[in-house]
Amino acid sequence: PPLNTIINTFDFEAIAERTVTPKTWAFYSSAATDLLSMKLNKKAFDQVLFRPRVMRNNESADTRTKILGFDTGVPFFIAPTAMQGMVNLDGEKAMAKGAREENVIQIISTNSSHPIADIVSSGKGPQKQTHFLQLYVNTDRQKTAQLLASAKACGLRAVFVTVDAHLAGKREADERLKVDVPVKSAVSGAISHNDEKGGGIGRLMGLYVDRTLNWEDIPWIKSVAGDLPIVLKGIQTAADAKLAVKYGVQGIVLSNHGGRSLDTSPPALYTLLEIHKIYPEVFNSLEVYIDGGIRRGTDIFKALCLGATAVGIGRPYLYALNYGAEGVAHLTQILKDELETTMRMCGVRDLSGVHPGLINTRKIDAF
Ligand code: FNR
Repeated sequence: PPLNTIINTFDFEAIAERTVTPKTWAFYSSAATDLLSMKLNKKAFDQVLFRPRVMRNNESADTRTKILGFDTGVPFFIAPTAMQGMVNLDGEKAMAKGAREENVIQIISTNSSHPIADIVSSGKGPQKQTHFLQLYVNTDRQKTAQLLASAKACGLRAVFVTVDAHLAGKREADERLKVDVPVKSAVSGAISHNDEKGGGIGRLMGLYVDRTLNWEDIPWIKSVAGDLPIVLKGIQTAADAKLAVKYGVQGIVLSNHGGRSLDTSPPALYTLLEIHKIYPEVFNSLEVYIDGGIRRGTDIFKALCLGATAVGIGRPYLYALNYGAEGVAHLTQILKDELETTMRMCGVRDLSGVHPGLINTRKIDAF
């Protein structure tokens, strides 16, 4: 179907399911074991209601903001997802090109199909574009130091260290289908190959990830990251959010990896509420982002009302990439339009006007 007939993230998803290869679909859409966290990620947003304020002069809405001090047109970013070359040969390069629209920040996975330098140069336009690196720490620490050096040389602006996938979750749809065409990451060098357990791409490509990573490694990560800000991606409790403050990182992504790591781990929205209840001071010390199940502008707005600086969008951008850079730009426009409508309906003109009083979270207040 032509791009202009696609009006929401679910349209992109339905078309991807019909058109990408069965293996690609299994890798993208799958999540850990019974898919409970994945489903709950979306449901959590659906259970939060608005408390809209009226008569606020809502002729327009301004969605611009800053993430780690970098300008962006929208309070959402492209979450790091591996092997984008599986859906579109240009993969992360096309994603970068599409991200120019509204100056969306792209986070480049350690398991990218294309080299970082190629991705960054595809995205360059008249406007300066911001890219961050997602880091899986390698058992060979020297390789991680080299990766950070080359990311810096390519102009990447921050490092998102993923801490919830030191081993891959049991993604059964992905395990059951054999890898037909082996895929290789130009960044990490990881190659998919079937083994006695099955063909799970996430698992096979994560074999180099250092399972011993712990809080005491943060000084080392800082030493190799130099002046790049550090964000921990995959925080799932208020206690760990507090530790992140103690260890002096600049941000955290509350995430359960799209439900792909440990099934029945909490949706990020629950963790966000838990931090408000137990350690609200965390919000004064670092930036908090969330991801998982965000499919509507209303979802984005709810996260911002609860103190998130921005949110990550994972699978929807993969499904949009099926249409190349234009699909990516179209998805951004859809989410931005939905967010603007939500802001205006709630009586908010710019993102400095969001606050918890605009939503009712009673149905998901578990703590
Ligand atoms: C991911 N995610 C991920 N995260 C990460 O830190 N490094 C990675 O390489 C990947 N790879 C990856 C591949 C695929 C196919 C998916 C779907 C996800 C997780 C991703 O960054 C994000 O946390 C979730 O995708 C967010 O949930 P939604 O938006 O997909 O529901």
